[in-house]
Amino acid sequence: MNSEKLILALDVESLSEAERMVDILKERVSIFKIGLQLFTKEGPKAVNMVHQKGGRVFLDLKYHDIPNTVAKAAIEATRLGVFMFSIHALGGDEMMKRCKDSVVETSLKDNVKRPMVIAVTILTSIDQKTLNDLGMKENIKDKVRHLSEKALRSGLDGIVASPEEVKTIRECCGKDFIIVTPGIRPEGKSIPDLIKDDQKRFMTPKEAIREGANYLVIGRPVVLAEDPLKTVEGILKDIS
Ligand code: C5P
Repeated sequence: MNSEKLILALDVESLSEAERMVDILKERVSIFKIGLQLFTKEGPKAVNMVHQKGGRVFLDLKYHDIPNTVAKAAIEATRLGVFMFSIHALGGDEMMKRCKDSVVETSLKDNVKRPMVIAVTILTSIDQKTLNDLGMKENIKDKVRHLSEKALRSGLDGIVASPEEVKTIRECCGKDFIIVTPGIRPEGKSIPDLIKDDQKRFMTPKEAIREGANYLVIGRPVVLAEDPLKTVEGILKDIS
């Protein structure tokens, strides 16, 4: 089973809830994403918990600040021993380059494995209309392509992008560029109607892998499922 391709978003309220989810899924999932909600509440404890249980961490805090601040945050992310972390390509070339340099330097100095640094281009919750409303008049695919090329030239390992943009990114950035795709919705499974789904550009797991994604990020369809393990097993079967 292709469990190496699945990243489970631990978008939950507390460390104990995250721990419960990791315990249920750790036989099938090896990479867990810790994002704004859990990290703001629990901080590095959440990262350590996943590591103690044998998992790897994608720290998804989407750094977007002046180059010096992002470089300093990157040093701390590297020291935490995460497998991957995210920054915003819209932070610009200097921010991306300084971030990458800090990661390389810290991993050598502290003798820790170098985390992959990946850039967010345009959030998967943003569609063409929203982009235009923000004053960006370009076609969304052109914008994603442009930002992906910038991330590649700045020395980053890859990109977070909607499944719809995977082909375009592969074309411009080559086969070794890592593509991580959120916005995944398993076939026939919708998240509970009570929660408004904000993903506007999505695909099924099988479609996203076929397009050429290296990793799929899935949160609510699993975390909110009645049986998260069964849902993950269904997804793994779908992409194997
Ligand atoms: O619940 P859902 O499957 O939509 O979760 C997707 C996860 O991926 C969320 O944690 C979200 O923050 C993250 N993400 C995203 N779009 C991006 C980057 C990250 O949805 N461009």
